[in-house]
Amino acid sequence: MDYNAAITGWGWYSPAQVLSNHDLEKLVDTNDAWIQSRTGIRERRIAGPNETTSTMGTIAARQALEEAELSARDLDLIICATTTPDHLIPATACLIQRNLGANHAAAFDLNTACSGFLYALATGTQFIQAGGARRILIVAGETLSRFMNWEDRSTCILFGDGAAAVVLEPTAQTAGVLSTVLGSRGDVEHMLSIEAGGSARPASAETLAEKAHCVRMKGNEIFKLAVRSMAQSAQEALAKAGLVTSDLRAVIPHQANHRILTATQDALGVSDQQMFVNIDRYGNTGASSIPIALGEFLQGNAIDVGDHLLFVAFGGGLTWGATVLRWADIPAVKMERWETMRKEKLALTG
Ligand SMILES: CC(C)(COP(=O)(O)OP(=O)(O)OC[C@H]1O[C@@H](n2cnc3c(N)ncnc32)[C@H](O)[C@@H]1OP(=O)(O)O)[C@@H](O)C(=O)NCCC(=O)NCCS
Repeated sequence: MDYNAAITGWGWYSPAQVLSNHDLEKLVDTNDAWIQSRTGIRERRIAGPNETTSTMGTIAARQALEEAELSARDLDLIICATTTPDHLIPATACLIQRNLGANHAAAFDLNTACSGFLYALATGTQFIQAGGARRILIVAGETLSRFMNWEDRSTCILFGDGAAAVVLEPTAQTAGVLSTVLGSRGDVEHMLSIEAGGSARPASAETLAEKAHCVRMKGNEIFKLAVRSMAQSAQEALAKAGLVTSDLRAVIPHQANHRILTATQDALGVSDQQMFVNIDRYGNTGASSIPIALGEFLQGNAIDVGDHLLFVAFGGGLTWGATVLRWADIPAVKMERWETMRKEKLALTG
């Protein structure tokens, strides 16, 4: 039997501490009007001293499991998309697995920067379609504030912290992930990087002095590529799904910069009502930005079975991607799950 992969649960977490544009005026030579007009950002959330990607991801994961009515013990895979893991080893996904008590789950991290959620969704979908896993938790989390150069006004104004999670499960319905398009260009990796702390440039007094452990970016070069690749991958994903933009209930894009979103919207020809934007309150939260936006969208808007969503992202690497999703009949997916779990239990007990 062929299965599709449907989202059955979702959750997100934003740290309590707000850093406004006016707060940033005290740190670097910038001002609220410049930041708002060039980026659309008013404020962003910053992780507290005891918060990390795994602690925020765990909170989001618990919400997603609750929404899906699933116990952590029933998960068989956890994928964490992050560029800002708690450590190089262990994987942040393993820390989340421990925190949740997901004792039967494999766990790994995936790093494609701001496209991370879409790469994780694509990976989870492949596991489901190949039969390698049935109940998958995808977490996307970033603690980008720990990798900012708070003296560099061209980067520190853009980013924020947060985490979000979805549960992905098989369904026989013609729903869930309909199409995915992914891409990369390693030849322009210099446009967005954290140079030091890896095997090429291990931590040293020199790397610390150079602030080479912080995000570096060629903002205006990225801008043009971001618009081009988001628009193109979105169009390809729509064509693969056999849909056009007017079929979309909503476009939930990676929230990088309001001007990038407007340019992408114009290139795709989608309406303001279709485009979901929350960058003003969160800034760019890396891999977590799409699932945080999805969570907010679902909180504030009714969605019907059969509605189509488009996710589209662009990030360091460079990487990009687009996914078209048809909203599944979630109670029916849960019925399918309980039937499968009943059979699994029977097989175990004989
Ligand atoms: C970073 C970004 C907001 C800069 O906006 P921009 O319109 O391209 O601005 P520029 O880099 O051309 O700089 C214009 C001027 O503003 C200045 N400037 C840069 N940051 C500033 C700030 N925070 N406050 C005030 N002035 C600033 C620059 O120094 C430059 O001054 P100059 O003309 O005297 O040299 C924009 O390029 C951007 O958002 N790029 C995409 C980045 C991104 O999304 N990355 C993540 C991808 S996932």
